[in-house]
Amino acid sequence: MALRLFQKRGFWALATALVVIFLFFQFRSDPGSGPNPSSARDPRHWTRGPLRDIANSTFGFEKIFVVGLPSRSDRRDGMVLQAALSDMQFEFIDGVMGKDVPDKAVPSSPEHTRLADASIGSWRAHMNAVREIVHRNLTTALILEDDVDWDVRIRDQLHDFALSTHALTQPLRSSPGGRTPPTYADETYPQPRDNSPESLPDWDFHSLPSTTPPTASPYGDNWDILWVGHCGMHFPFKRSRTVPKARIIRRDDETVAPRKNLWTLNIPFTLKENYPDHTRAYHHVQEGVCTLGYALTQRGARRLLHEVGLKDVSTAYDLLLRYFCEGEKGRKAGRQCLTTQPSLFHHHRMIGPMNIMSDIGDHGDAFRETAMTDMVRWSVRLNADVLMDGRTDFVNQYPDDVPGDAEQGV
Ligand SMILES: *[C@@H]1O[C@H](CO)[C@@H](O)[C@H](O)[C@H]1NC(C)=O
Ligand SMILES: *[C@@H]1O[C@H](CO)[C@@H](O)[C@H](O)[C@H]1NC(C)=O
Repeated sequence: MALRLFQKRGFWALATALVVIFLFFQFRSDPGSGPNPSSARDPRHWTRGPLRDIANSTFGFEKIFVVGLPSRSDRRDGMVLQAALSDMQFEFIDGVMGKDVPDKAVPSSPEHTRLADASIGSWRAHMNAVREIVHRNLTTALILEDDVDWDVRIRDQLHDFALSTHALTQPLRSSPGGRTPPTYADETYPQPRDNSPESLPDWDFHSLPSTTPPTASPYGDNWDILWVGHCGMHFPFKRSRTVPKARIIRRDDETVAPRKNLWTLNIPFTLKENYPDHTRAYHHVQEGVCTLGYALTQRGARRLLHEVGLKDVSTAYDLLLRYFCEGEKGRKAGRQCLTTQPSLFHHHRMIGPMNIMSDIGDHGDAFRETAMTDMVRWSVRLNADVLMDGRTDFVNQYPDDVPGDAEQGV
């Protein structure tokens, strides 16, 4: 009898211990909240769990498209090499010359005349890429312009971006399931309400709230656009009624160039003026400029085709994308567009006459003597030799101790 009692108690003690150990590991390996950001940059620590696919050859998206004119073989050569050196796979989407788009194909209104050919061509090329996402029913896709470059550490950067998008848009772990609506760390999400605060205190990247792991995409289950390649973003404006206010700040990102090398087309440049060197920020899109790179979900692509493909083409594509994200000029509000500053994709500028930089702008007769990429420290393009030699002594374009100012251009 005593022995049987002991066996019974022993059984329960063992069972309890097993449950405790199970729960411990369950929570410790919580992949959604990136429990150990100090090791987040080491892929060995994150190639499990829902973020794992960011390490794959399409950066955790279903496809990557690169938009550009077939005649620009120089850019295609550069992009193919750069992708090869990054273990990245993509498909080209042919760019369009505005003059080849007939008036009938451009939704318009009587309030303005047809836009310049350059703007029409850019709008149409991007819309062709977006249409492809809808047509093929892709879950997500990243669209890049054909002259962009990125850091050798792009996957780590995207991994950290994903941790931040989870914190900004995934429901809190503590929120009860069932019929009660989910709760979010950002009280102004998905859209500010009448009694919402105009701004929120900064969140620290190293102690993000614990959110439920996503199932649809490594970047989260509830977004339309990730605008990761731009030439300027504002932090959400206090007055904005449509843009959620949360701001995640990371102060020690060694992939961020020193402040003296950062520039923007959005003045004031709050990130540079108010935060120390090597600070990165993650937040919702406010007044993005340039569409160097952005990802879409299937939901986002359908909405964009509806709002920007089929409605009045009244201005340049990046402005239309801004209207889409912020619910302006007849576009529906409530879209979820997320971004990071500084941008992750930037223009690469090859050696040669300045006018090769663009088929649309006029850059005069100047000649560029040295290749460069805006703001990217360990540029893939500028480290092609290092990468092909299998070395890791990467050239840092923007070291800390060298004086000099940011060179601005578009
Ligand atoms: C990369 O991961 C994404 C997200 O899971 C997936 O849709 C895509 O097919 C993967 N890419 C490759 C080449 O396996
Ligand atoms: C598109 O894909 C989703 C799953 O990702 C599926 O449920 C849906 O039926 C597909 N639609 C079409 C038209 O194939």
